[in-house]
Amino acid sequence: MAHENRILVAEDDVQTHDDWRETLAGWGYSVQVARDGVEALELINEKRPHILLADLRMPRKDGLELLRDIREMGIYLPTIIISGQGDVPEAVEAIKLGAVDYLRKPVDPPHLRQMLRNLAENVVIRDENLSLRRRLAEVGELGHLVGRSPAMRKVLATIERIADASASVVIIGESGTGKELVARTIHQLSSRRANPYVGVNCAAMPETLMESELFGHERGAFTGADRRREGCFEAANSGTLLLDEITEMKVELQAKLLRVLEEQRVRRLGGNAEVPLDVRVLAASNRDVAQAVREGKLREDLYYRLNVFTIELPPLRERGDDLAVLVQNFVQHYAARNNRGIVGIDDEALSALQAHPWPGNVRQLRNVIERASVISQGRVIRRLDLPQEFQSISNVEGGYIKLRIGTTLEEMEKELITRTIEFSDGNKTRAAQFLGVSTKTLYNKLERYRGHGDN
Ligand SMILES: Nc1ncnc2c1ncn2[C@@H]1O[C@H](COP(=O)(O)OP(=O)(O)OP(=O)(O)O)[C@@H](O)[C@H]1O
Ligand SMILES: [Mg+2]
Repeated sequence: MAHENRILVAEDDVQTHDDWRETLAGWGYSVQVARDGVEALELINEKRPHILLADLRMPRKDGLELLRDIREMGIYLPTIIISGQGDVPEAVEAIKLGAVDYLRKPVDPPHLRQMLRNLAENVVIRDENLSLRRRLAEVGELGHLVGRSPAMRKVLATIERIADASASVVIIGESGTGKELVARTIHQLSSRRANPYVGVNCAAMPETLMESELFGHERGAFTGADRRREGCFEAANSGTLLLDEITEMKVELQAKLLRVLEEQRVRRLGGNAEVPLDVRVLAASNRDVAQAVREGKLREDLYYRLNVFTIELPPLRERGDDLAVLVQNFVQHYAARNNRGIVGIDDEALSALQAHPWPGNVRQLRNVIERASVISQGRVIRRLDLPQEFQSISNVEGGYIKLRIGTTLEEMEKELITRTIEFSDGNKTRAAQFLGVSTKTLYNKLERYRGHGDN
């Protein structure tokens, strides 16, 4: 072997983990171990192993489900299944799903070693798909997904890698970080790009309407259903469907959604006929989805079904130089659109932008630049062309707080926060900007004060 091949072992019996590590490392492999299929998927995404050894029986996601996911992901990962004594039918099923071979427990080391040798000779460490990369660059040139910071490069690399698979992706990030743009880009880069892309906001409407929005209805299915209507799933057939704000969907509806995803068939409300589906489903949320699962707001089974891949969009304040590139991009865009001769932004204005916490992320930045492009008189945007919160905060009118000596730091913080919110007319986003924290931090603090229960 010219270099170490990476092996991932998925095995729920943690007592054997050290043995696996020792044995395989002894044979010159680099070893990762996962406790179940879910963890294995994460490690596959992260570490890109060359070979997978997977136990057939594992909690959360078993070997067969894991093989299915890998196949859906469209990646090449030679897999050896390790089965128990009586698991012959499952082992056969595993081979059908693309496993290269299977081994019975207890594993015979020399046998395994030979199997791995044969495999390693055939493992091609493929370069990332070049044509995909080229297409991403093209999409980028259309002025879409801009990003050079390490965090965004990672996002772009992931998009590139997963675009062509038909597996689901969960996209998370604060409001305005570009989740929808990422969803569209994935669709654009996939082999489905000539087929429909449909986005639906799961928080936008009452449950019954939502159900018909997703699955469609026949005429007379409910009061007001005066004609048949196809749902988003049908509309997105052969293409991509984005379920936006997935954690806001009613739990009962989530169960129905899961059934549709699993059966790959949809029945319109009030109808009998089942429409077969071939839809790639993406889901977005600006909340912590794992947390939503813990709180019972998002069904765990649905989450695992959707979360084959995860893309986490960093907030704008963590993207470093991306801000300047985005600004330049937006300046050009609006200059062209408004037919103005604006060519850039001066240093002072850019510094003011860079110092900002950007609770509204890229969308907010875009709006600020759009407004400045209209206001600006010259060829460059100056600080004065930016909204109030970018002018020095010290000359904002009014607003002093008197504090008694003996006030604790904690009380002081609370007082400052409460008064700043009052000062901002209850606008918490703006208050967070004054305080120099993210809206999320502000909400967390408020929640903590509430939790203390003394008021
Ligand atoms: N990396 C980026 N490069 C260029 N434009 C971007 C980028 N990210 C976001 N935008 C722009 O910012 C705006 C907001 O993006 P988008 O609607 O995708 O955010 P979102 O995360 O879906 O927001 P929300 O949570 O509010 O739904 C859009 O106009 C989008 O084009
Ligand atoms: Mg969105």
